Amino acid sequence: MDASYPHIRLRRTRSSGWSRALHRENRLAPSDLVWPLFVTAGQGVEEPIASLPGVSRWSVDGIAERAREAVALGIPCIALFPNTPGDRRSESGEEALNPDNLMCRAIKSIRDACGSDIGVLTDVALDPYTSHGQDGLLDASGYVANDDTVAVLVDQALNQVAAGADIVAPSDMMDGRVKAIRMALEMAGHHQTQIMSYAAKYASAFYGPFRDAVGSGGLLKGDKKSYQMDPGNSREALREVALDIAEGADSVMVKPGLPYLDVVARLVDRFDLPVFAYQVSGEYAMIEAAAAAGAGDRDALVLETLMALKRAGCTGVLSYHAPLAARLAARLLNG
Ligand code: PBG
Repeated sequence: MDASYPHIRLRRTRSSGWSRALHRENRLAPSDLVWPLFVTAGQGVEEPIASLPGVSRWSVDGIAERAREAVALGIPCIALFPNTPGDRRSESGEEALNPDNLMCRAIKSIRDACGSDIGVLTDVALDPYTSHGQDGLLDASGYVANDDTVAVLVDQALNQVAAGADIVAPSDMMDGRVKAIRMALEMAGHHQTQIMSYAAKYASAFYGPFRDAVGSGGLLKGDKKSYQMDPGNSREALREVALDIAEGADSVMVKPGLPYLDVVARLVDRFDLPVFAYQVSGEYAMIEAAAAAGAGDRDALVLETLMALKRAGCTGVLSYHAPLAARLAARLLNG
């Protein structure tokens, strides 16, 4: 028999809902999601973010509420980012080391509200704390100094872990920071703390709304191209990840998500560790803009883009759409 049409008709398995469900190769579940949240000062405060419609900054009490919501939705992990008050930002970002800063208070409030029912992932980088909006310390020429920055990042990570962070996620793209953080964690007895490295983080135009959310956008002069990756490169991402594995990362991240699916797929092919993607603020804003303009259905766009990241091989995805996606995914899984 000729193994071709009409004996073979690929449309057979697509012909009904039950059959499509049966043959689907990839699935999206609430447990695939990490929900990034923005922390702000005060009590009972919710500040909507204009460039991220539908996303707000929450004061610490509101963060605890969101954590309860995440647990109820089956979202296993929350990522935290602070909008540091202006008078606490400085040239060297010392507020990052304050054991009572917004991040540490938010971590503790989540722990009080949810115990160990949810993971807390914290961003390690100085941009929410510096008066210049760069992720590290500047030398006399304005260059972001690698080794001096790494020394501060280690203390920042230890500060977050002392407050109860489960996963530290260095997003700064300095060389050698994973190794330095891992050694410091081991020496301090934090053997269970995970490192999720932003290993392949690109110098991207998709971070704009995030910088509004943490209040660094207006402060930043210039760009981050001397440390974040060139969007033209993918082989370099393999080197970044190989180094971070050797330095002690438990998982790695690609960022942004959808524009870098090829990078996700290459990493998953090459390395046997979990690969995450960050569907970043600009990606969220594009979906919201399309939905608001009537150019696409929000729910369908959210599910399709997250599924694309899963299909590329992601273990999980950080997404501002996490609560919506968790509801949609739960509905799909339960019929
Ligand atoms: C900061 C950091 C950024 C994001 C996560 N951590 C912005 C940047 O590098 O300027 C972006 C996330 C997003 O756009 O949603 N180190």
